[in-house]
Amino acid sequence: MAILPLSGHNRSIKMPKNGYQIIIDPVLLSVRQMLPAFCGMKPCEGVLDVCCGTGAQVIEYARQGLLTTGVDNSTAMVNAGIKEKRGLGLENACFYLADATALPFEDNCFDHVSISFGLHDKEKAIRNRVVAEIKRVVKKDGSVVLVDFNIPLPNNFWALLARSIEFMAGGTHYRGFKDFTATGGLKSILHEHGLTEHKSGNFKSGIVKVIQAKLNEE
Ligand SMILES: C[S@@+](CC[C@H](N)C(=O)[O-])C[C@H]1O[C@@H](n2cnc3c(N)ncnc32)[C@H](O)[C@@H]1O
Repeated sequence: MAILPLSGHNRSIKMPKNGYQIIIDPVLLSVRQMLPAFCGMKPCEGVLDVCCGTGAQVIEYARQGLLTTGVDNSTAMVNAGIKEKRGLGLENACFYLADATALPFEDNCFDHVSISFGLHDKEKAIRNRVVAEIKRVVKKDGSVVLVDFNIPLPNNFWALLARSIEFMAGGTHYRGFKDFTATGGLKSILHEHGLTEHKSGNFKSGIVKVIQAKLNEE
C-alpha cells in the first residue's frame, strides 16, 4: 500500500507536535502492547487502525508481525507515525492521510479494524459514519476492536483527570465526549451498529474499555 501525499487538513489537535507522544502514548503503551494477544490477532493478518494519531498502535501491531495500516486526517499525526516507522525500519506498517468517514479502501479487506480513543471525541453523526466505514472495510468474519473510555467512568483520580482533559479540549471534542458518556459509550455503539461483543476488558484503573466485536450475520 502506498503512502498518500500529505495534503489533508485537520486542526482538531491543538497540542504541540510531539505533545501527544510525550503525554498520552506512554500512558496507553501497556494497552497497545497487549491488544494483539487480547484480540487473538495472528502474525501476517491485515489490521487497520482508524484515527491512528501518532501511529503508536500501528507501530505496536507491526512490531508484533501484523501487516498494519494507519489512517488519520492530521498531517502532523501521520508524519509522526511515518517518522517512527522509518526509524524502526518497519516495512509492514504504512500510513494514509485520509478521512475516517470515507476510508480509501475496498469493502471487506482487513482481518481486524481498530479504533482507539477515536470515537468519544466526535459528534454523533460523524461517529456513526466512522463506525459504518469500519464495518464496511472489515472482512465479514473479521473483528472490530474498539478502545475508548469505559462508560460510566469509575470514581477515581484517573477518571477525574480524563474528564478534566476532555473539558479542556472544548469545542466539538467536548460535545462529542458529553454525548458519548450520556449515551452509554462503546456498548451503545455496538448495539446501534449491529455489532456483537466477542470479548471485552477494562484497563488502566478501569478508565479504558476494550471491546472486540464481530459483525452480526445478516
Ligand atoms: C484522541 S486522538 C486518538 C489517537 C490514537 N488513536 C490514540 O489511541 O492515541 C483522535 C485522532 O483522531 C483523528 N481524527 C479526528 N477526526 C478524524 C477523521 N474524520 N478522520 C481521520 N482521523 C480523524 C485526530 O487527528 C486524532 O489523531
